[in-house]
Amino acid sequence: MEFRHLGRSGLMVSEISYGNWITHGSQVEEDAAKQCVQAALDEGITTFDTADVYAGTKAEEVLGRALAGVRRESLEIFTKVYWPTGPGPNDRGLSRKHITESLHGSLRRLQTDYVDLYQAHRFDVETPLEETLKTFDDLVRQGKVLYVGVSEWNADQIGRALKIADEMGFDRLVSNQPQYSMLWRVIETEIVPLSEKEGVSQVVFSPIAQGVLTGKYRPGQPPPAGSRATDPAGGNFISRLLNDDVLARVQQLEPIAADLGLSMAQLAVAWVLQNPNVASAIVGASRPEQVRDNVKASGVKLDSEVLEKIDDILSPIVERDPSKTVSPERRP
Ligand SMILES: NC(=O)c1ccc[n+]([C@@H]2O[C@H](COP(=O)([O-])OP(=O)(O)OC[C@H]3O[C@@H](n4cnc5c(N)ncnc54)[C@H](OP(=O)(O)O)[C@@H]3O)[C@@H](O)[C@H]2O)c1
Repeated sequence: MEFRHLGRSGLMVSEISYGNWITHGSQVEEDAAKQCVQAALDEGITTFDTADVYAGTKAEEVLGRALAGVRRESLEIFTKVYWPTGPGPNDRGLSRKHITESLHGSLRRLQTDYVDLYQAHRFDVETPLEETLKTFDDLVRQGKVLYVGVSEWNADQIGRALKIADEMGFDRLVSNQPQYSMLWRVIETEIVPLSEKEGVSQVVFSPIAQGVLTGKYRPGQPPPAGSRATDPAGGNFISRLLNDDVLARVQQLEPIAADLGLSMAQLAVAWVLQNPNVASAIVGASRPEQVRDNVKASGVKLDSEVLEKIDDILSPIVERDPSKTVSPERRP
C-alpha cells in the first residue's frame, strides 16, 4: 500500500481507503462487515471513512466494533456530519449545536477519543460559515478532531471557507470528499485547480461508480444476485448509471484492463489515483475478496496512451459539468 499526504498537512493516508456507506448496518451482515474490515487491514489499508448518517448511525457502531482492539495510532478514522440523525430541526446541518452533539455520538459509536478527519458532509445554507468553522476549530483545540474537511462543496464554498479561516486564524480545511470516477469528472475544472493552489486534497468516493466500472452489470441483463443494484437502499443510488449506453461502453474497457493485467475494478481505482490532487480513493465492498482485488490498484501507473483509449470509449457519457456539485437548497 502506498501513502499520500492529506492536503498540505503532515498526515499520511493510505491511497486506498475503505468506506462503509450502504454496506455496514444495512446491506451486509455484521460478520461480512468485519471480514471486509479485516481484509482491508491485512492489505495495508489504514484509512477508514464513515458518517454519522450511514444506516441511521448503525454503520459507525459496526465500524467501531470491527476496529476495536486495533492500535489506534495505526488508523486514520474519518467521519462526517450534516445529514439528519434524528427527527428534530437541530438533528441536522452544521450549527454549533448539531456538530458538537453529532461528534460526541460518533466518538461513542466508533469507540475512540478522537477522529483523524471530521468532514462537513454538504454545505449548510442555514448556518453562517463562520459558526461552522469556529466550531470545527474549537473541536480541533479540544483534541476531539485532528483535521477538518468537507464533502461535495463547490469551489466557491471551499474558497470562502479558506478565506475565513485565514482571516480568523481558524484551522484550515485539508480535504474535500467529492464523487470522482472515470464517469464523473465534475471536480476537474474548478475544484481541483483551486485545491492544488490551496493545499487541499480530494478524498474521492465511488471510484468504481458503485460497482458499475467492474463491468458486472451487463446491458440488457438483470443485475447480478447480491449486487448493490438489487439492494433496497443501494438500488436507488446506482440506478442512474444502469442504462445500456453506459453499460455497453464500460464493457469496451475490458480489453484495456486485460492488456494491463488488471481487473476492471483495479483499472477504475488506478484511474482516479493518477490525479495527483487525489490523496485517497475510498472503495466500498460487500465481500472481503473485493477489498483484496481493489487494493492491488495501489501504485499502478497508467500511461497517456491508456488514458486516451479510455477517453475515446467513455467521452460521450462522461459528466464534466462543475455545476453538478450541489448541496441541498435547504437543510434536509
Ligand atoms: N461523501 C459522500 O457524500 C459519499 C457518498 C458516497 C460514498 N461515500 C464514501 O465512499 C465510500 C465508497 O463509496 P461506494 O461504495 O459507492 O464506492 P465504490 O467503491 O465505487 O463501490 C463499492 C461497491 O462496488 C462493488 N464492488 C467493489 N469492488 C468490487 C469488485 N472488486 N468486484 C465486484 N464488485 C465490486 C460492491 O458492491 P456490491 O457487491 O453490492 O455490488 C461495493 O460495495 C463509501 O463507503 C463512503 O465512505 C461518500
